[in-house]
Amino acid sequence: MTRLANKSALITGSARGIGRGFAERFVAEGATVAIADINLEAAEATAKELGEGAYAVQIDVSDQASIDVAMASVVSHAGKLDILINNAALFDASETVDITRATFDRLIGVNVAGTLFTMQAAAKQMIAQGHGGKIINMASQAGRRGEPLVLVYCSTKAAVISMTQSAGLDLIRHGINVNAIAPGVVDGEHWEHVDATFARLEGKKPGQKKAEVAAGVPAGRFAVPADLTGMAVFLASSEADYIVSQTYNVDGGQWMS
Ligand SMILES: NC(=O)c1ccc[n+]([C@@H]2O[C@H](COP(=O)([O-])OP(=O)(O)OC[C@H]3O[C@@H](n4cnc5c(N)ncnc54)[C@H](O)[C@@H]3O)[C@@H](O)[C@H]2O)c1
Repeated sequence: MTRLANKSALITGSARGIGRGFAERFVAEGATVAIADINLEAAEATAKELGEGAYAVQIDVSDQASIDVAMASVVSHAGKLDILINNAALFDASETVDITRATFDRLIGVNVAGTLFTMQAAAKQMIAQGHGGKIINMASQAGRRGEPLVLVYCSTKAAVISMTQSAGLDLIRHGINVNAIAPGVVDGEHWEHVDATFARLEGKKPGQKKAEVAAGVPAGRFAVPADLTGMAVFLASSEADYIVSQTYNVDGGQWMS
């Protein structure tokens, strides 16, 4: 299992959750992985647990200077960058009439601008290296259609799908494949937050929203991060050289497209 041998990967938001799952699998596949997160302490703990192939880097994807410093530390540590997974994101939910500009700006800053400008910094590095690369953006089923209480998050994920299309069409001339993964519902801290948010908004008991959502998944359960890693390894490998600008649903059958 060394489909990513000698590859240098940067995975944002990989101190925990899905990003951590990607990092663990990428290390097992032979890659050197930057565990890049706004929470440096958590990134360091994760890197330590994943062993020799992983190292911690602090990044706030909503801050250009932080993106530039993180990119420089990846090049200094690994000598190059071959793969970026743009995975860091924030979630929020509220009634449309209660959305604040502060929440809108925060989610756009991380989920949209963060994805765009981390992708841009990675692309510049890959172009300078001259041998292409792979960029994987994390979209969501939330980007495929709206949800009544999730306007801002849904729109940021729709933007990720759109940016993947445009950037992919532009960057393929440099041999850089840009594609995205759209998960459905994935167990972890993120969903604990989502469940608590809906408990507050819809007057549900803790765990109730999660159970209702799980019952509606055709595959019959929430995903775990390991359900997504096969797609990520594939898109990061040379087997995906002819795949451009696509968003793949890995969601247990929740969305058809
Ligand atoms: N969990 C799900 O059900 C689900 C479903 C669809 C899509 N997704 C997407 O998958 C990705 C990962 O989700 P998750 O469930 O693992 O989320 P998570 O909340 O568990 O983890 C997100 C990580 O990003 C980090 N982070 C937050 N803001 C940051 C910033 N400004 N800069 C750098 N790092 C930052 C956090 O510290 C955390 O480690 C996200 O893009 C999310 O939108 C998740």
